[in-house]
Amino acid sequence: MATLSEPETDFARLPDLPEDVFTAPLKKPDHLGEDWIEPVQAHYRSEDHAIWNDLFARQMKVLPGRAASAFMAGLEKLDLGRGGVPEFGKLSEELNALTGWTVVPVPMLIPDHVFFWHLANRRFPAGNFIRTRETFDYIQEPDVFHDVFGHVPMLTDPVFADYMQEYGRAGWKAMRYNRLKALGALYWYTVEFGLLEETDGIKAYGAGILSGPTEVVFATEAKSPNRIMLNVDRAMRTDYVISDLQPTYFVIESFEDLYRQTVERDFDRLYRSLAASFTYANSAVIDVDNVVNRGSQEYHLRGGRGSNAEPI
Ligand SMILES: [Fe+2]
Repeated sequence: MATLSEPETDFARLPDLPEDVFTAPLKKPDHLGEDWIEPVQAHYRSEDHAIWNDLFARQMKVLPGRAASAFMAGLEKLDLGRGGVPEFGKLSEELNALTGWTVVPVPMLIPDHVFFWHLANRRFPAGNFIRTRETFDYIQEPDVFHDVFGHVPMLTDPVFADYMQEYGRAGWKAMRYNRLKALGALYWYTVEFGLLEETDGIKAYGAGILSGPTEVVFATEAKSPNRIMLNVDRAMRTDYVISDLQPTYFVIESFEDLYRQTVERDFDRLYRSLAASFTYANSAVIDVDNVVNRGSQEYHLRGGRGSNAEPI
């Protein structure tokens, strides 16, 4: 069966990249091996731990009632509020006992094929630095708070944990078709900015939403953004915004539904049919959409970030 990933690929060692695959030309720092894993986790000073604690406290004011229950349960299971930046060895031990995942420290940017390879082996690559007081409110690069607080709790959910592994395996297939951009959009609209329908309303499970204070409220409650039921073909053809709130969020019924939609389908045919660039604008609503809320787009029409527009 043609699927998202290629079951015959052996991910025990880093597979070779075929020559006709286009990836970002990143230069590996000399002290790292081919896995790009930092030999030791960064040493955090007491001020760094204080920044973690303050970020944690700020999120806990806005997350209850807005974050997916699986995320809140994950925070508890891993006791991420015990104080200070978590030590990856201990965190990995606890996470491994739950779902077989570990967390490894990496530099800010690693190549796509290495990232996918880690996910395929149930290793989550996490930033090896924390933001400063100056960049407390917004930082574009994923730091340890975004990566560990935002992503790791969801890895305690068994179905989501399997989805992440399959996503990593899928990366290798997408590369062969040079359609990483499309697979990147799927990651963006699920792992980073996904919403979930729960019995008492729409909740956030995406790390990009959950690791900052503004987007948690915007994504779940504001009138501006579109909220559309996830259709994988559609999301993979949709452009997205990197440094501002999203004009559109995609909603899933359950993690089982997300897993089924992505893992049990013919991705060879999809990749062959996808254009090299995106087909739909990030604010578009199209005929096939199952729309939960059609947004006013007021925030983005007023200029978005930088214009002081209210995130309403
Ligand atoms: Fe992220």
